[in-house]
Amino acid sequence: MTIVMGIETSCDETGVGFVRDGVLLGDALASSMDEHARFGGVVPEIAARAHVQAMIPTVRAALADAKLSLDDVGAVAVTAGPGLATALHVGVAAAKAYALALGVPLYGVHHLAGHAAADTLEHGPLPDRSIGLIVSGGHTSLLYVRDLVRTPIVHLSDTMDDAAGEAFDKVARLLGLGYPGGPSIDREARAGDPTAVAFPRPLTGSNDPALGFSFSGLKTAVARYVERPRDPSITVADIAASFQEAVADVVTRKALLACRQQDVDTLVIVGGVAANSRVRSLAQERCDAAGIELRVPPLRLCTDNGAMIAAIGDLLVRDGARPSRPDFGAIPTIELTGAQLASA
Ligand code: KG4
Ligand code: ZN
Repeated sequence: MTIVMGIETSCDETGVGFVRDGVLLGDALASSMDEHARFGGVVPEIAARAHVQAMIPTVRAALADAKLSLDDVGAVAVTAGPGLATALHVGVAAAKAYALALGVPLYGVHHLAGHAAADTLEHGPLPDRSIGLIVSGGHTSLLYVRDLVRTPIVHLSDTMDDAAGEAFDKVARLLGLGYPGGPSIDREARAGDPTAVAFPRPLTGSNDPALGFSFSGLKTAVARYVERPRDPSITVADIAASFQEAVADVVTRKALLACRQQDVDTLVIVGGVAANSRVRSLAQERCDAAGIELRVPPLRLCTDNGAMIAAIGDLLVRDGARPSRPDFGAIPTIELTGAQLASA
């Protein structure tokens, strides 16, 4: 069985993982998050430099974690897109160098397919049909998913403006909470009342697209609320909890509707916002009530990492996919329709 090395550098995490036959053998992660904190968001040039610096040490750390040597690697998979161009280039160049030096095949893969594949490391192969809810910093989509690698992935909806994670990051800034916003709102919200402020549930009216997402209006509603004089008994924690509740309510409501519409009984929630405690608990509550199986990766595999890229690479290798063309480059913007980018 081939051991696949996965390399992820689409944003501010340098991730490396090793997967064989659906099993995670080991991984390592370096992050430049702290360097971006004072700018309130990821600075592409800083992220790219940090990837260059972290790449070899992270490969070594992942090898040590997996108790492997480079000679054991039988294939390399790398995030080719979507993501920050400068950051993607570092991973793609490194992956090409490793694949060439080791004489093994190279697969350029779609970052979001990696997010979905992360779940298979914990819960095994996906069922024949499932609904995927991707909620990350750059994407919010409902997908109709079959096997992830062979059958094209169908987009049921995509956000019309901000992604869910982006809304968390922007609202955290409005509330004076730290970057990245998702984890800090999640923490702050624990002490808050989710019913304190009735924030809008975007695109849930009878004339709205039933599966559509939009978060920019919700962000503006929080901004307006914060600007105006308000009831002094309402705390930042209350506002954070109320905002988080609105996002969790909308994404889980629409994901369950997609399951009903497609007559599918498995929901897979992936991406950074799948780490959110309220999204997880409300999704579980609603799936239990509807008789739908919920699959969510363990917390550390929700946000960007190398294991998920190794996982999707492993699925491609086992499916007999042909390696990517040697001249493929990074593709910063690309819709998810299949696991592999730049196939032969
Ligand atoms: O999937 P990811 O690591 O990177 C992208 O592919 O975008 O997602 C990062 C996003 C950020 O916006 C971050 O604030 C959000 O996921 N996030 C969370 C939580 N942890 C990370 N959002 C809500 N609650 C969390 N616990
Ligand atoms: Zn991601």
